Amino acid sequence: MAKTEALPKLREDFRMQNKSVFILGASGETGRVLLKEILEQNLFSKITLIGRRKLTFDEEAYKNVNQEVVDFEKLDDYASAFQGHDVGFCCLGTTRKKAGAGEVEARVEELQFERYSVFRPGVLLCDRQESRPSEWLVRKFFGSLPESWAHGYSVPVATVVRAMLNNAVNPSGKKKELLDNNAIHDLGKADDSLKP
Ligand SMILES: NC(=O)c1ccc[n+]([C@@H]2O[C@H](COP(=O)([O-])OP(=O)(O)OC[C@H]3O[C@@H](n4cnc5c(N)ncnc54)[C@H](OP(=O)(O)O)[C@@H]3O)[C@@H](O)[C@H]2O)c1
Repeated sequence: MAKTEALPKLREDFRMQNKSVFILGASGETGRVLLKEILEQNLFSKITLIGRRKLTFDEEAYKNVNQEVVDFEKLDDYASAFQGHDVGFCCLGTTRKKAGAGEVEARVEELQFERYSVFRPGVLLCDRQESRPSEWLVRKFFGSLPESWAHGYSVPVATVVRAMLNNAVNPSGKKKELLDNNAIHDLGKADDSLKP
């Protein structure tokens, strides 16, 4: 795990490698915050969003972000959208039932990436822009608990994003890493550049 004092150096070393990244699900809560933080940390020399629709950004910081619109039912036809990237972040899905999260993890294993990390957060704490009443209620519940109680079952999206990026910039000898909610808290709090 990245130690707080090592992170600036790890990030700098990572930047120097001019890596490229694609993000799946950049229109969602996690993907949106991830993209913002990637731009703020200036970690990659090329950023591509891959989604089922084109997104519109007003801010100047997003002007060099590339976008590829693909049909997720026919991904074989869109292999070129994924090619030429060193790193990929997948923030796709809505619920485990709909997205088949366990199934996705099994399929990722088959793809034989040099290295990959699976993040398994608890309830994501965020100000979701769209309306999901039941999720809103669960978030309110966890938001009202003392932090030490909520810690085990929930996590701010900003902490998940920090953990994803801190993990990515840290060279790892491990081919596969699984991060549960506690591990995400530990890695995501390793610095405070992003306020939850
Ligand atoms: N919310 C939670 O409390 C929670 C807890 C634990 C784990 N997770 C998992 O964490 C991940 C991210 O969650 P989130 O809350 O950030 O997600 P989110 O806000 O619901 O965003 C989902 C993203 O996936 C895209 N997407 C959904 N269905 C799709 C489809 N059939 N084809 C193509 N794109 C599709 C959406 O694109 P469009 O904008 O085009 O719809 C959006 O970019 C998900 O895998 C979720 O299961 C969530």
